[in-house]
Amino acid sequence: MRTQADLRAWRRKQSAQLIFVPTMGGLHQGHAALIRTAASHQATVLVSVFVNPLQFGPAEDFERYPRTLEADCRLAADAGADALWAPSPEVIYPAGAEDCWRLQVPASLQQHLCGQGRPGHFDGVATVVSRLLALVQPTRMLLGEKDWQQLTILRQLVQDLALPVQIEGVPTVRASDGLALSSRNQYLSDEERSRAVALPRVLRAAATTESLASIKAALDQAGLDVEYVERVDPHTLQPCGSEIAISLLAAAVRCGTTRLIDHAFLMTRQPLVAIDGPAGAGKSTVTRAFAEHLGLVYLDTGAMYRSVTWLVQTRGVDPADAAAIEPLLDGLDLQLRSLPGGGQQVLVNGEDVSVAIRSPEVTASVSAVAAHRCVRQALTAQQKAMGAKGGLVAEGRDIGTAVFPDADLKVFLTATVEERARRRALDLEQRGFPVPERTALEEQIAERDRLDSTREEAPLVQADDALELVTDGMSIDAVIQSLVQQFRCRVSEEAWPTPAG
Ligand code: PAF
Repeated sequence: MRTQADLRAWRRKQSAQLIFVPTMGGLHQGHAALIRTAASHQATVLVSVFVNPLQFGPAEDFERYPRTLEADCRLAADAGADALWAPSPEVIYPAGAEDCWRLQVPASLQQHLCGQGRPGHFDGVATVVSRLLALVQPTRMLLGEKDWQQLTILRQLVQDLALPVQIEGVPTVRASDGLALSSRNQYLSDEERSRAVALPRVLRAAATTESLASIKAALDQAGLDVEYVERVDPHTLQPCGSEIAISLLAAAVRCGTTRLIDHAFLMTRQPLVAIDGPAGAGKSTVTRAFAEHLGLVYLDTGAMYRSVTWLVQTRGVDPADAAAIEPLLDGLDLQLRSLPGGGQQVLVNGEDVSVAIRSPEVTASVSAVAAHRCVRQALTAQQKAMGAKGGLVAEGRDIGTAVFPDADLKVFLTATVEERARRRALDLEQRGFPVPERTALEEQIAERDRLDSTREEAPLVQADDALELVTDGMSIDAVIQSLVQQFRCRVSEEAWPTPAG
């Protein structure tokens, strides 16, 4: 399709779910992977091909950029696209590229990496993508992770302008020698190509403790002309060092006249996600499913506090008496085991208490028991030991503040008291427990919030850098989706692939 009318007529005939893959043509196997991923979602897939003049600087390769429309159509069709749209500049910029409206990307997002050497580039990308989205109206847009800064900026654009589309990043596709596929690779001579492979080789070999100067020296030595080598926080794109467990090491080089970019994720441990929030916000259900989706272990710290509460009750100890509780913690053997199919088994001194710890009696006393310093210290130490290597999603009240302050993603998952009371009533009913009056339930929940957030030891507080997610009116799937998206803003698919299935 060429015109806006063609697109409109076609769009009207498609199902509601439309996945959009915007490109500038010169399609290669990296684009094919994007299109195949799109097609795997069982939705209609539209590819666009438009070499956007706004994102090229005056001395850049706009004229020379590969234009291979016929081959692009074949590749897109073979990879599973339903249609391809190649609009003319007049369709995209009716007033002309000079006189069109432009979006301005926030300075912080383009101060580093490619933004420094390509002034106006990301403004051009943001402008064209918003126009394309308005015309295509897709439900989802797929972009390559190779251009991580572009992906980050477009994710932020969609979030800040509340555009009704979801963005999914697709892992970088590499040639067998490691070079990331790019339309610009075809500019390379054979000799340049053999030099270019040093870019991924050096970035991937970089140790988390290595200095940028030594990485730059290694690229120089390989005959590449370095434009920048930077290490940044993958989400904020601000420079960082190894205080950030998962960071982005990115570089742009010239190989002959061709500009190449690539990056690697530096990881001092596996990913760590902290999910905090008040009782009854649906944390357990969501966290369990989220952890499973990403191949991370689910650490239910609430179950650990419930287990101690259960032990206190079965030993006939007063939940308010810290001195009497302390000896129970000595040599306490507390185990959490993931069961196939997503369940979890909780063992206290070898006894399976998975069901017992969910009783209303335990629920009523867990805040009091969890407020004792000795209990918090014992369980926090155990949790930290479990999380030392990462690879966890931990859920609780003080995970992002006291237990894993260095978590890669911190979420404060909450819902209004009314909503939580409604969910609690439903849950009690389904499990065959008596259901109190709704107002009584609301009071209980509000009281538990008060106790949790005013207790002296590790009160329930939202970490400064936690993202608040209020789940009223959201389905469980939508909450999980939202968590996955936030995770993917910080950890690429290439660095931590979503397990199959
Ligand atoms: O990545 C690209 O190919 C382009 O920057 C995009 C997103 C299609 C906008 O022109």
